Amino acid sequence: MQRSSSLLSSSSTYDPSTRIVREPLYKQGDHRFPTNLGQPNSGVQMGLEPSGEAACLRALSPLQVALNHQGKENILFCIGGDHSVSLGTVHGHAQVNKDMVLLWIDAHADCNTCLTSGSGNVHGMPLSFLINELQEFVPPDGGVRRAAAVDIAFIGLRDIDPGERYLLEKFGVTYYGMQEVDHLGIQEVVRRSLQEVNPGFKRPIHLSFDIDSLDPGFAKCTGTPCRPDSRCAKDSTLRRRCTGQVNPDLGDPAQSEVTVNAAKEVIRACFGWQRAGIVPSNYQIP
Ligand code: ARG
Ligand code: MN
Ligand code: MN
Ligand code: MN
Repeated sequence: MQRSSSLLSSSSTYDPSTRIVREPLYKQGDHRFPTNLGQPNSGVQMGLEPSGEAACLRALSPLQVALNHQGKENILFCIGGDHSVSLGTVHGHAQVNKDMVLLWIDAHADCNTCLTSGSGNVHGMPLSFLINELQEFVPPDGGVRRAAAVDIAFIGLRDIDPGERYLLEKFGVTYYGMQEVDHLGIQEVVRRSLQEVNPGFKRPIHLSFDIDSLDPGFAKCTGTPCRPDSRCAKDSTLRRRCTGQVNPDLGDPAQSEVTVNAAKEVIRACFGWQRAGIVPSNYQIP
């Protein structure tokens, strides 16, 4: 079968070697936005408008925070949900650090376009607006700052939609699924990811962390829990300039407490906490 040259092609199916089997959900040129936003979430909520521009601008408030940190060696930490907040955090960070790379730790690839999304949930779409190479597949967004496919690495993937898999393959995005994490270990996966997108740690890192990358045993209270695993969060190599998004506002109180504790552990790890204890940054070995 011939490889489809356009994701929006209405006449052909996808290349079977990418294991994409379904027909495009919409026809070429049909830029209808989905209307199903899913359950309400805590934190920043992105509204969906007929115009992509208005919808994206609504999500850009974290930009102000990023700009306040311009030129300083601070870590910007941003907490919110759903994961469409990344439209604002990535945009803001990319404005300040044009050469930043993007690490996306998630069970999901969140790069559905409005046309490939089966759920219509915008939390599964933010990267379609944030990856340069996908711009021809999404409605105009009013100038969101993006990253190139080569500057993005996914870690922890285990629930990718067919259209997303197609996009990752088509544009050569680095990704390590749970299979690789199990096989190689999280340290090695992080090392390889950074080696590919950021050799020598020379560039600023934007870490976008989805709580559903954790094992639901530790973080049940999220919209799309997905087994397994919990190891992604624990690697201290990620302690650089980070933002993350978590959403622990679902489930019963006990599950909620476990989820919040897991989120706290991830947050502490981002700021240098280690199981063996924190070494102060100005500590000199006598
Ligand atoms: N891929 C699915 C979708 O498009 C799930 C996305 C889940 N994303 C998330 N941020 N929880 O709806
Ligand atoms: Mn979500
Ligand atoms: Mn996810
Ligand atoms: Mn996500």
